[in-house]
Amino acid sequence: AERTLVLVKPDGVRRGLVGEVLRRVESKGYTLVALEMRTADGELLGAHYAEHEGKPFFGPLVEFMASGPVVAVVVEGHRAIEGFRSLAGSTDPTSAAPGTIRGDLGRDWGVAVTQNLVHGSDSPESAAREIGLWFPGLAPAAS
Ligand code: GTP
Ligand code: MG
Repeated sequence: AERTLVLVKPDGVRRGLVGEVLRRVESKGYTLVALEMRTADGELLGAHYAEHEGKPFFGPLVEFMASGPVVAVVVEGHRAIEGFRSLAGSTDPTSAAPGTIRGDLGRDWGVAVTQNLVHGSDSPESAAREIGLWFPGLAPAAS
């Protein structure tokens, strides 16, 4: 089955929403196959967000993501990559649809960085790359 990397970002951990996010993932029917809480360093985050290097929000994004612990989770299930993106909702929490994690639980706090509670891999290639970064040694897909 397909695997995707989910992060509960530092804002989600600070607000006590780890259980709520995991509840939604499990209630949808996906399986948690690995889970770790850690504070990421700039090296890991620079690699994780390499596609955004050079964009104006890159520095603030990495700084925000390193500002406290995140919960990294490998989620498994048929079409789990698309499925979690759908659960998360669109990037901007103000316009994310109600019913989604960002739409129900997120808002714009008027700060420079878009704090939107969760990350989910956006393609099979991203998922394999990100699972390798956060969980070296874990297979990027179930056998
Ligand atoms: P992730 O699941 O975190 O990757 O979010 P995403 O896939 O919905 O968005 P994307 O990969 O395009 O951007 C990664 C993160 O950078 C977002 O979640 C935001 O926190 C931030 N970001 C993206 N675009 C912008 C932007 O235009 N302005 C600002 N300030 N932040 C942005
Ligand atoms: Mg993304």
